[in-house]
Amino acid sequence: MIDIRSVSVERDGKPILAEVTAQLDQRRIAVIGANGSGKSTFARLLNGLASPTVGTVTIDGFDPSRQAREVRARVGFVFTNPDAQIVMPTVGEDVAFSLRGKGLTRSEINARTSEVLHEYGLADFVDLPAHDLSGGQKQLLALCSVLVARPSILVADEPTTLLDARNTRLVADILMDLPQQLVVVTHDLALAARCDVALLFDGGRLLQHGDPAAAIDRYERELV
Ligand SMILES: Nc1ncnc2c1ncn2[C@@H]1O[C@H](COP(=O)(O)OP(=O)(O)O)[C@@H](O)[C@H]1O
Ligand SMILES: [Mg+2]
Repeated sequence: MIDIRSVSVERDGKPILAEVTAQLDQRRIAVIGANGSGKSTFARLLNGLASPTVGTVTIDGFDPSRQAREVRARVGFVFTNPDAQIVMPTVGEDVAFSLRGKGLTRSEINARTSEVLHEYGLADFVDLPAHDLSGGQKQLLALCSVLVARPSILVADEPTTLLDARNTRLVADILMDLPQQLVVVTHDLALAARCDVALLFDGGRLLQHGDPAAAIDRYERELV
C-alpha cells in the first residue's frame, strides 16, 4: 500500500509538489500531466529518490527517507533512458548485478537471471554486450534487472518515451501484465487508459485522481 499524506516538496524555496494526498492500492496506476507538472518528483518520492518537505510517504508502512533498505527491497524503479540504468558490460552480468549482496549462491543468481531473461525474451542475448541491444531490448533489460530482485511495486518514469511505436507497444503490454503493483508516469495516453486508476498532475498539484478515462479527458480538455 502506497500512502501519501499532505506531501509538499520544495526545492530552492520553489514549490514542486503541493499538498498531495493519495492512497494507492490499485494494481496499475498511471501518472499523467504536462512537462514540469511534478510527475517525476512524485514518482521519486516512492523510493526515496526525492523526500517530502512536508507530509509523509509510506510504502507498506515504511518511510522511504528513513527506512531506505526496506523500501528499496519493495520498490523497483525504471527510468526513461535505460542507458542510465545499465551498469555492467553484458546482459547477463547486468541482471545478476542486481542480486549481489543478497546472500544468494552463484547458481541461485544464475538461475534467477536466466529465468527473468527467458520470461522477457532476452535469453539469447545473455552474453552480449548490453550496449549492443536495440532501444526496446535495452528497456527490457533495465526492466529485467529490476524485476529479478522481485520488488512488489514497480515505478516506471516515462519508460516508453524513447521507444518507437512497436517497442512502445511491447513494453506497455509487458508493464500491463506484470503481477507487481505498477506506477507508470507516461505521456502515452493509450497506456494510461489501460490502467486501473490515473493521477493527473498540474503545476505540482494532484488535480484529479480516479477513473483514467475521466482524467485523460480533463487533461486533453483543460491542459493540452
Ligand atoms: N531538484 C530540483 N531542484 C529544482 N527544481 C526542480 C528539481 N526537481 C524538479 N524541479 C522542477 O520542478 C518542476 C517539476 O519537475 P518534475 O517533477 O521533473 O516534473 P515532470 O516529471 O512532470 O516533468 C519542474 O519545473 C522542474 O524544473
Ligand atoms: Mg518527468
